[in-house]
Amino acid sequence: MIEITSLHPLFAAEVLGLDLGRALDSETLRLIEDAFARYSVLVFRDQDVTDEQQIAFSEHFGSLERTKVGTPGAGSPLVVLTNIGADGSITSPTDKQILNNKANQHWHADSSFKPVPAKASMLSARIIPSKGGNTEYLSMRAAYAALPPAKQVAIEGLVAIHDYAYGRSKIDPNLVSDEERRVVPPVRQAVVLDHGAFGKSLYLGAHCASIEGWPDAEGRALIDELMAHAMQARFVYSHPWQPRDMILWDNRAVLHRATPFAAAAEKRLMVRTTIAGDGPTIAPRAA
Ligand code: OGA
Ligand code: MN
Repeated sequence: MIEITSLHPLFAAEVLGLDLGRALDSETLRLIEDAFARYSVLVFRDQDVTDEQQIAFSEHFGSLERTKVGTPGAGSPLVVLTNIGADGSITSPTDKQILNNKANQHWHADSSFKPVPAKASMLSARIIPSKGGNTEYLSMRAAYAALPPAKQVAIEGLVAIHDYAYGRSKIDPNLVSDEERRVVPPVRQAVVLDHGAFGKSLYLGAHCASIEGWPDAEGRALIDELMAHAMQARFVYSHPWQPRDMILWDNRAVLHRATPFAAAAEKRLMVRTTIAGDGPTIAPRAA
């Protein structure tokens, strides 16, 4: 029997009593899917998974994204987030892995820079530092619901341009290679997503560069205003990792970010699988 308990007044829940070493029956999967739709963030405890088990569990929720060029794990369904180098020691702070860790400390939705952005991500804690390194989640449904009604009306139907190079170049202009620029050109995304019975959400984050059809400065000002509204402590769940935790989150309902830890002294190894979206956030533009 699985047991689901909430971790925050607005979203996020903990799932106990699940053993991913066993095949999951359809009733259990349905309970998990319902909880996912409702809570946006599910924390599974005590999952000592291998890469293969994590992939198999993730595939219950949809097909997996292949990791893009330039990221550790490229070509496989795994994204490896770590400060551990190939020789097993902690990498030097100039390393691209460290800069990518820094980039992850900005609120973002995984793969919002893809034409069909990710539906969900699953992250498992393989090695965690003794303190720090929480992953934080921001409920963009709660943020949307708390907007003044006139603002909700004003932003309905807006399209944002999400650009991987834009977000990354704010961290370090050298972080994006020409090849990456070529494979991830800017894409259009709805600013407001509709989750049916669960309301609407704001779809923004670090890759969100501008508002289509608006002068750059005005688009930026709106994005900043909406983000400032969203980034309220009451909409945040901060997860202190325990060994063997695994988290599944809805990239279309929450933003997330990494937080600092003593990365020069302690090791952290996280493995992510990313569940592809079923479709784009807006209808493709007529040719
Ligand atoms: C991710 C991510 C944050 C963290 O896996 O997509 O942003 O705390 N991780 O490692
Ligand atoms: Mn991420």
